[in-house]
Amino acid sequence: MKPSAIDRHLLTLFPFILASLIVIGVTRIAIETSCSWCHVLYRLFLPISSSTGETFEEFTNVSVHGCNLFEGNWVLDKNNPRPLYTEDSCPYLTRQVTCRRNGRPDSLYQKWRWKPNSCELPRFDAVKLLTILRNKRLMFIGDSIQRTQWESMVCLIQSGVADNKKFLHKDPPRKIFVAEEFNASIEFYWAPFLVESNADHATKHRVQKRMVRLDSIAKHSHNWEGVDVMVFDSYIWWMNKPLINATIGSVGIHEYDVPTAYRLALRAWAQWIDSTMNPHKQKAFFMSLSPTHLWSSEWRYGSKGNCFNESYPIQGPFWGAGSSHEMMDIVKETILNMQVNVTLLNITQLSEFRKDGHTSIYTERRGKLLTSKQKSEPVLYGDCIHWCLPGVPDTWNELLYAYLLYRNLS
Ligand SMILES: *[C@@H]1O[C@H](CO)[C@@H](O)[C@H](O)[C@H]1NC(C)=O
Ligand SMILES: *[C@@H]1O[C@H](CO)[C@@H](O)[C@H](O)[C@H]1NC(C)=O
Ligand SMILES: *[C@@H]1O[C@H](CO)[C@@H](O)[C@H](O)[C@H]1NC(C)=O
Ligand SMILES: *[C@@H]1O[C@H](CO)[C@@H](O)[C@H](O)[C@H]1NC(C)=O
Ligand SMILES: *[C@@H]1O[C@H](CO)[C@@H](O)[C@H](O)[C@H]1NC(C)=O
Ligand SMILES: *[C@@H]1O[C@H](CO)[C@@H](O)[C@H](O)[C@H]1NC(C)=O
Repeated sequence: MKPSAIDRHLLTLFPFILASLIVIGVTRIAIETSCSWCHVLYRLFLPISSSTGETFEEFTNVSVHGCNLFEGNWVLDKNNPRPLYTEDSCPYLTRQVTCRRNGRPDSLYQKWRWKPNSCELPRFDAVKLLTILRNKRLMFIGDSIQRTQWESMVCLIQSGVADNKKFLHKDPPRKIFVAEEFNASIEFYWAPFLVESNADHATKHRVQKRMVRLDSIAKHSHNWEGVDVMVFDSYIWWMNKPLINATIGSVGIHEYDVPTAYRLALRAWAQWIDSTMNPHKQKAFFMSLSPTHLWSSEWRYGSKGNCFNESYPIQGPFWGAGSSHEMMDIVKETILNMQVNVTLLNITQLSEFRKDGHTSIYTERRGKLLTSKQKSEPVLYGDCIHWCLPGVPDTWNELLYAYLLYRNLS
């Protein structure tokens, strides 16, 4: 299968996603729900080897170097249950992600634990992480997917801090959680393209007329200087159309092929990291793309829905058409060519299985919960990009935690 041909085709389908979900203040658009080419992608899902009945051995068998943490499967395990927090136990969750509170009837989606094939992930310990982060800043930088990962991290870590020793501070485009007794902060910085763009306002951003400044990053990056742990992402905003309006230097606005533009933007990002980051004191991570589940025909041949009413993970193998190999490879190549080590957290495959993890109709749209009329039209209004919390992004943070634990910060 030639991924790039599919990617191209896919690019033309993304306007629906972005216009309806990521943008504020856009009128409803006609949506292409049929996926005439999806049959090409349909595969038989072979059951993966069962791994039930494992016991959890804390730290005894974990090795970030010796084990591929990103290959494994989702298990239900009474001895090491998920979720690690609940909607009620974490006061910092936004309404966008609290699916149960927003009416989602099932809850199994919260209960899966990621089990790498040849090791165990370390048990998440909030105090241990806070100790690692003492006198440090951990910053998530990117789009709304990254914001969810930040929210997840705040919920995971906040239980380790006494009630009167923690607070949340909003300073757009930043959100900052402070654990006072550790002098540690967990921050989010909105920069959906990483480089500068006309979508940089934290709430008033338009997706239709996007314009990206491919070689300009300074306005953002000066806010990242000296941050001890930086975690980046950038993908979905690029995927609106096959072309994107952009500038380089003083050259005026031109339409660029999206992969070309992405490569140039990441080059600007890489140059900043290489020239600014002190690898002995700072760490940088890049989250691989977060998959979407927009077309149920990809996992259930002939069906016409999306992620709505999905309550069980896909039993692999599975790779959705929304996940561009070409774009992923650009990230990988960029990182390989850098002087400073940046760790790619390859969460795409493990998240591909989780068609059950999205917010679907149990979320907000332009700041309001969906109306019952909207809820009755999940194909139009279901959000199959963002994730419920507790949920899949907690696992991304468990993986990040494993790296922070074993590549101890100085
Ligand atoms: C990410 O992991 C998947 C499967 O685990 C693998 O197929 C893919 O090549 C990896 N991608 C990168 C960029 O390392
Ligand atoms: C634990 O690690 C050993 C090698 O050190 C390996 O042989 C064994 O399969 C691992 N067990 C699990 C459950 O991953
Ligand atoms: C608190 O943390 C900041 C970095 O986040 C650091 O610059 C400062 O020195 C720390 N304060 C103390 C008293 O260690
Ligand atoms: C680029 O901008 C021009 C002028 O605003 C517009 O007509 C065109 O559709 C835009 N191209 C893309 C790919 O958005
Ligand atoms: C959800 O799926 C179940 C089968 O898994 C089906 O019985 C039910 O009617 C579906 N609900 C809706 C609202 O589509
Ligand atoms: C970067 O990673 C390579 C191997 O992945 C390692 O050999 C090297 O020591 C690392 N460099 C730094 C500065 O951490």
